[in-house]
Amino acid sequence: MSPSHIKTLDKDGDEITTVGFKRFGFDSEVPLDVLRSLYLRSHYIVSNKDPKVIEHLDEEEEEVIHAKLSTGHSLFRPTSIYFPDSKSISYTTLSRFPPVKLLSPSERKRILVTGGAGFVGSHLVDRLMLLGHEVTVLDNFFTGSKTTVSHWVGHPNFELVRHDVVEPFMIECDQIYHLACPASPPHYQFNAVKTIKTSFMGTLNMLGLAKRTKARFLISSTSEVYGDPEVHPQHEDYWGHVNPIGPRACYDEGKRVAETLTYGFQRQDGVDVRVARIFNTYGPRMNPFDGRVVSNFIVQALKGEDMTVYGDGTQTRSFQYIHDLTDGLIALMNSDETRPVNIGNGDEFTIGEFAELVREIVEKVQDEDGAEREGRVNIVYKPIPTDDPQKRRPDTTRAKESLGWQPRWTVRMGLEEMVRYYKAKLVEGSL
Ligand SMILES: NC(=O)c1ccc[n+]([C@@H]2O[C@H](COP(=O)([O-])OP(=O)(O)OC[C@H]3O[C@@H](n4cnc5c(N)ncnc54)[C@H](O)[C@@H]3O)[C@@H](O)[C@H]2O)c1
Repeated sequence: MSPSHIKTLDKDGDEITTVGFKRFGFDSEVPLDVLRSLYLRSHYIVSNKDPKVIEHLDEEEEEVIHAKLSTGHSLFRPTSIYFPDSKSISYTTLSRFPPVKLLSPSERKRILVTGGAGFVGSHLVDRLMLLGHEVTVLDNFFTGSKTTVSHWVGHPNFELVRHDVVEPFMIECDQIYHLACPASPPHYQFNAVKTIKTSFMGTLNMLGLAKRTKARFLISSTSEVYGDPEVHPQHEDYWGHVNPIGPRACYDEGKRVAETLTYGFQRQDGVDVRVARIFNTYGPRMNPFDGRVVSNFIVQALKGEDMTVYGDGTQTRSFQYIHDLTDGLIALMNSDETRPVNIGNGDEFTIGEFAELVREIVEKVQDEDGAEREGRVNIVYKPIPTDDPQKRRPDTTRAKESLGWQPRWTVRMGLEEMVRYYKAKLVEGSL
């Protein structure tokens, strides 16, 4: 099914055609199909063709491939071609950038996104670019990849800088979204000391920049600051229950000290700060191999492998879709709310139930696309890792009251989109 034919319904059964909204004097609304064209079906796939052959395709043949494999916003998709037979890829630049809003100089903001090549950052960058702002991405590509934002390289409003936030960085800007930090356990545990340095020194450097430029500063904190919580659901005034020396501490305590620093700069130096406590988020461009439950389940089910549940499957999680998070981050940045704000979806699933749901959706998408599958995949249970919280669910009353924000995407709709994304990656050979 082509991306433009996917019908996406919100929690009330109404079709979602745009994401974002106009609030706090900031218009964040963009058409969903344009946004989607930037991440669904990233490359054309050509079988039985050698790269040498494709170089000699005439315009008409290229047109046929184009017409066959794209609909709607074809002009704004990369025309890179993947050759499964030789496992090679031929990159091209976009023939044309997607249209971005033309803002007056007073409306157009200079926005710095650290960690902008990561999962959350790249979606935020897509949105801010389509909205017509000047965006600079700062990333050391530890977990992020240039390919997540490469479709903007060369655009006059866009700049990509390879830089480690542990080192100071100077730029003129109006807003800083400080996202740089590995977010998945295997990545942040890979080098625990570096993770803490990134959280502390990276945040210190970016707050210093915000102080000098008088930019508004938003940090992406996490529900992990609540640790293994004794309060359900978690509201922002709960101080948490964190093990300071466990394997997750480098991330949890790193984010806690990053929040402390943020409010230190606010109190001492009057820096204009925003703190988003992000709960489990999923969506296209998530690294499929970083051990996060959503990507694990989808990839296993798509490949016909056993789906692994750690523990007995009764631990609960809530999952929010990436576009809801992007809406929340932009709303928070532009609002007057300076207290920490939970951004997450409160719909709770046990991990066991969630595995069942993923399996059902993968089967649905495979059936729709006429793909063959051999029976149902199994769900298997393995021992739970140390410090894995048993239960976590956001209380999003504050986000609703002060930002007018609440999640629109159902887990089912988000999962469908993500399954389509991973399925395309599988076909493309990059998964
Ligand atoms: N995805 C979630 O469910 C979730 C939940 C809670 C909080 N968050 C927070 O949101 C932010 C983004 O998370 P994500 O899921 O996109 O993770 P990600 O790993 O995909 O992205 C992080 C980005 O930061 C970059 N980075 C890491 N260390 C850096 C450094 N020292 N200097 C410069 N760049 C660096 C990485 O290369 C990557 O591009 C993180 O701060 C994370 O803690 C995410």
